Formats: sequence, C-alpha cells, structure tokens
Amino acid sequence: MATLEHLRQRKQQGEPPFACLTAYDATFARVIVESGVEALLVGDTLGMVVQGHASTLPVRVSDIVYHLRAVARSKGDALLIADMPFMSAPDTATGLRSAARAMRAGAECVKFEGGGAQMCELVRACRVQGIPVCGHLGLNPQSVNVLGGYYVQGRDRTAAEGITAQALELRQAGAQMLILECVPADLAGGIASELDIPVVGIGAGSRVDGQILVLHDLIGITEKPPRFARDFLAGADGIGDAVRRYVQAVREREFPAAEHSFS
Ligand code: KIV
Repeated sequence: MATLEHLRQRKQQGEPPFACLTAYDATFARVIVESGVEALLVGDTLGMVVQGHASTLPVRVSDIVYHLRAVARSKGDALLIADMPFMSAPDTATGLRSAARAMRAGAECVKFEGGGAQMCELVRACRVQGIPVCGHLGLNPQSVNVLGGYYVQGRDRTAAEGITAQALELRQAGAQMLILECVPADLAGGIASELDIPVVGIGAGSRVDGQILVLHDLIGITEKPPRFARDFLAGADGIGDAVRRYVQAVREREFPAAEHSFS
C-alpha cells in the first residue's frame, strides 16, 4: 500500500525513485496502478487534456470531485492525490472546504499550488483537520497569467532561493509531499536533499525522490508535448507496457534524461 508514510520511508531508506502519473478515469487508473505506479494525481490538467481548454483555469472543485470518484474506484494500492484547482482556496476556510470535498470523494492527500504565508496557514489548518497536503512549487500553471507563460522557474539565484525558502516553509507548516515543476535539475536536487519528505519532479531533473507525468504526455497523444515528457508508448506493447517502461526508467533514474531536464 503506497501511503505518504511509506513513500517517506522509501526516501529515508535511500530506495530508488517512485513513479506517479495523472489519472482521470477508472479504466486508466486500473491499468496504471497494475503497471507499478505508486501515486495517482487527479490533476487540474484535466481541464486541458479531457475538457479541451487552453489552460487549467476553468477547472472547478466539482470537476475534480467527479473524476476523483471515478479514479478512486480502481486506485488499488496507489496513493490518490487530488489537485485543488484555481481559486479553490482564496482563504483558509474556503480552502479547507475544498479539500474536505476532495477527501470525501476518495482523495488521500490534496495538492495546492504555491507557497507563502497564506498557503502555510492553509497547510497547518489542513493538518489539524487530518488532511495531508502536497505542495506544488516552481512553475504553477494556475498562475500562468502572472508568470506570462509556461516558463522554467528558479533560474536566477534570487528566484532559486525563493523557491527553496518556500519549500522549507511548506514543510515546516506540515506539508507531507512536494511537487516541483519546471525548475533547474540542480535546484530540485538541492531541495530534495534538504527535505525529509518525498519531492516529486516534473521537468525537474532526476535527482528527486519521484517523478510525475501527465498521462497523455506519457502515451504521446498531447498535441504539443512539453520538452520534459517522453512518449513511452513508442515501441511499447500497449499502454500497460508503456507505463511499466516509465516506472522502470524512473526507478533506474534513466528518465528524465538530460534532454528532458533544465539547467
Ligand atoms: O494537474 C496536473 O496534472 C499537475 C501535474 C502537472 C503535476 O499538477
């Protein structure tokens, strides 16, 4: 059973990285988990890959809840993480209510994008209510309009120090997992070695504790795949085999390779 505690112990014992994937429905969830993935994320990327929007911003908590219920029915032993979408936590009380809806729909952990004092207060409040939180730093797609595009974050020293500080603050507030998206591999590796919780990368190099990809990128059906993704279905014997190849490549730190990482 992949619990947050199990993943934390894996890190502590120096075991190989683990693989996570997004999932949005019961059938894919079953195939993914049977192929060795340890954690499923019902991501707000569903707004793009399932609903066809240009960004994740239109996604609502009710959309996440709908897909969570489907994925929860065949999540097997995997950890089930719910993404908290744009404006699901404008304040702590609303954030708690959003998180509670996800937990009642079957989530075992909720993921919020961003850091800072307000986010740390929300993480603490979630912990008090028994809701585990996964942080998400680096490129936060819900802030695409502030960032001006989907760009690598943390490249200069000040930005890198800011992300590291936010990661440490989230951990102190009680976050039990952290996703780092599109940051230089050295920065991600440094944060992973400073934190005692699993740090999962997407476009964050191979020196982290786990990897996550969007399912549609992994099976090569995204219209414009991001540079950090690899089409694992190419040359594989079906989707289950593609996922197994991904799991294996993550465990052996063969994925992500240099061409999928940033400096
Ligand atoms: O929504 C999502 O799929 C995500 C991953 C890209 C980490 O947040």
